[in-house]
Amino acid sequence: MEKAMVEVQHVTMDFRRDCNRTTHLKEFAVNLLTGRHHIEKFRALDDVTLTVPQGCVMGLIGPNGAGKSTLLKVISGIYRPSGGQALVHGSLVPMLELGSGFDADLTGRENILLNGAILGYSKAFLLPKVEQIIDYSELRDFIDMPLKTYSSGMLARLAFSIASVVEPDVLIVDEILSVGDEHFQRKSRARMLELMKGSSRAVIFVSHNLQQLREMCDRVIWLDHGRIRMQGAAGEVCDAYEREAAAT
Ligand SMILES: Nc1ncnc2c1ncn2[C@@H]1O[C@H](COP(=O)(O)OP(=O)(O)O)[C@@H](O)[C@H]1O
Ligand SMILES: [Mg+2]
Repeated sequence: MEKAMVEVQHVTMDFRRDCNRTTHLKEFAVNLLTGRHHIEKFRALDDVTLTVPQGCVMGLIGPNGAGKSTLLKVISGIYRPSGGQALVHGSLVPMLELGSGFDADLTGRENILLNGAILGYSKAFLLPKVEQIIDYSELRDFIDMPLKTYSSGMLARLAFSIASVVEPDVLIVDEILSVGDEHFQRKSRARMLELMKGSSRAVIFVSHNLQQLREMCDRVIWLDHGRIRMQGAAGEVCDAYEREAAAT
């Protein structure tokens, strides 16, 4: 049997939502004292179980708010689930929503080291790779400028370049490939496929581009309201998702 790289077992994630959100301290205090203030539990993930085997490219689809980013954050260890557990076997690089793991006031070059450190790589490991990362990103002309001057596409390039150079066992990508321009999208797609050839690896990525999912994924999971609606061969799940989108 193939080795599992990621195992998500009955994961539930509850967020607390402040229902009578107020910016006034006095109002807040009154609500609190009169018992009118209550915090509602919101279930972003509900009993999610899945396995990503070695060599698998797993796609994740679902409408906004379905829980895709939350699931990736649980797998990445950024969120501790309210119930269940997520196990990762091997090193993991998460490329989450833009901005996480970067500092806008630092330069691109400094952010490579910062982001690498957040991902758990030592300076000794990263320093020799910095030039390679800069070359890969094709951002050399901008690399000593603060990140706040970068466009979202440039940020995506930098994030992907760091992740792709460190060659993780498990690569997690949240909607980031759809941000760059056509050229970089093609390049990052090719790099992801190359990373897959290592066959010891696994990839999970979120995309709203069904064609990209069909092309790149072995399997796809459809999340809806925090629950797995369907999982299976990429083509089948994309067909079903498309049918529903057309019907509603
Ligand atoms: N830190 C948080 N606190 C409270 N609610 C959150 C938090 N993160 C996400 N949510 C809520 O959880 C639900 C799922 O969000 P998310 O995982 O970002 O969805 P998706 O990535 O599929 O669009 C949304 O309703 C969102 O508002
Ligand atoms: Mg998201």
